[in-house]
Amino acid sequence: MLILGIETSCDETGLAIVEIGSDGRATIRGEVLASQVSLHQKYGGVVPELASREHMRSLPILCEELFASTGLTLADLSGIGVTCGPGLKGCLLMGVTFAQGIALPLKVPVLPVNHIEGHILSGELHEPALKPPYITLVVSGGHTEIVLVEGLGRYTCLCRTRDDAAGEAFDKSANLLDLPYPGGARLASWAGKGRASSVFKLPRVAREMDDFSFSGLKTAVALMVKRHRQEIHASEDVFADVCWAIQDGIVDPLVKKVSREVSSRRLPLVVCGGVSANVELRERLTETCQEVYFPPLKHCVDNGAMIAYAAGRYFANGITAPPLDIFSRWPVETLSSFYGVSHG
Ligand code: KG4
Ligand code: ZN
Repeated sequence: MLILGIETSCDETGLAIVEIGSDGRATIRGEVLASQVSLHQKYGGVVPELASREHMRSLPILCEELFASTGLTLADLSGIGVTCGPGLKGCLLMGVTFAQGIALPLKVPVLPVNHIEGHILSGELHEPALKPPYITLVVSGGHTEIVLVEGLGRYTCLCRTRDDAAGEAFDKSANLLDLPYPGGARLASWAGKGRASSVFKLPRVAREMDDFSFSGLKTAVALMVKRHRQEIHASEDVFADVCWAIQDGIVDPLVKKVSREVSSRRLPLVVCGGVSANVELRERLTETCQEVYFPPLKHCVDNGAMIAYAAGRYFANGITAPPLDIFSRWPVETLSSFYGVSHG
């Protein structure tokens, strides 16, 4: 079974063809990705209207490239999976409209895919031996949540952010330090050269809360940068120490809360989403959790393969398509009723 996956929820256009064998094994036959980072950089963040237009421009070009690189044709497809949320509505519409345009003459089903479920299942895509139940830490630019996975479509959110996502906290702090957008990876690379400083300390926020919260940290960083701007920019060592403190302020609550869930439930952990590329987070979680999986870096960030794989799993289970719609918010706990997947 060959499934085309289409991802356009934010600023990455991703397409992939994934083959699901009769034994359930998945093989990525081809994948393409176009990042819009350079388009949005001068605005310091994603401009939704520009992002949708760019998806519209890129989709047919990338699709042609994908099929040319695999030697497959549209007629080989058994179905299509397309991200229907959560994400920017205009961007989601581009992907959905494109998917429908392809599916209609081919008479193949289009399955609406939840972007977060795509990230979650990227663990099973790369570790076929990994079977639910397990815990996932989803950490990206738009999402930060700990999810208990009990089966396909069967998710319980154990903890989520009340305000900013972890990636957003990285990016906003990087912006306050005048690092170019998206500054998360740049800030992390500076942090790698820094160390704990007795002068540049940030408060530990949301320690006692069940959920994550990163907006207080952002305010503390803003105040610190305002007070010590000259000092911070005068020395590379000081700049690196400040980045270390910020990274620690984001990574520490992630590690503490997820380790608590993992050890009390004695389950494996999958870490996914763009922030799972963070070296410090990887090292600390590898130290504290016995069994932890990180998808390869190219599948930590948004991509079409995770969407094709998620759709393929539903098709393989005989679940076809609830009507297509788009959702800017779409909690993963609602998926069992959305797809009619029973609990228990
Ligand atoms: O999953 P993703 O590609 O897109 C969303 O769905 O949001 O995640 C992007 C986020 C950005 O906030 C980016 O700054 C952050 O992941 N990121 C990092 C690192 N690499 C990417 N944050 C911290 N350390 C990194 N090495
Ligand atoms: Zn994502």
